[in-house]
Amino acid sequence: MTSSLQSELAAAIRTIENYPKPGILFRDITTLLGNPRAFRRSIDELVHPYAGTKIDKVAGIEARGFILGGAVAHQLSSGFVPIRKKGKLPHDTVRIAYSLEYGVDEMEMHRDAITPGEKVIVIDDLIATGGTAEGACKLLKQMGADIVAACFVIDLPDLGGRKKLEALGVEVRTLVEFSGH
Ligand code: PRP
Ligand code: MG
Repeated sequence: MTSSLQSELAAAIRTIENYPKPGILFRDITTLLGNPRAFRRSIDELVHPYAGTKIDKVAGIEARGFILGGAVAHQLSSGFVPIRKKGKLPHDTVRIAYSLEYGVDEMEMHRDAITPGEKVIVIDDLIATGGTAEGACKLLKQMGADIVAACFVIDLPDLGGRKKLEALGVEVRTLVEFSGH
């Protein structure tokens, strides 16, 4: 990925100070999503290593991972698997607790969403502490998924999320880094 593309994508992301609480710099992708060229180039960049590879499923993490993951799945002609916050899925689910910056929550996926051995890419907008993506990868592995990679538009490297996924043996790809969250 060229540094000019990185700069273009970084410039398309809006930073909001003191949201959702004082001291936090919130990286808002709605401006990137609303920019036709930046949106397309982000999806193309997420997809290109897998062009010509068979990816059975793209797993998108609620909520912002649904927007990007749906587009990636379409481009790769893959199925899409929603990983949702608890209580939202109607059929039999598997559930896992995951850590947030403060406290824990639970996420779930349908038990029949993955056939063991299927090749899966995990998509979310951003990796910070990695707790969310770690939970998603553990759930997918529990169901027998072969996780090809976990891909994010934004990495906040100071928060160490990448290492959490690598410790699970998951390859991590990110497009833009913001240091000093
Ligand atoms: C944000 C972001 C990632 C997650 C990253 O989602 O979209 O999913 O946090 O944080 P982590 O790496 O520290 O776990 P959020 O929980 O705010 O929910 P949303 O996507 O539904 O808005
Ligand atoms: Mg999220």
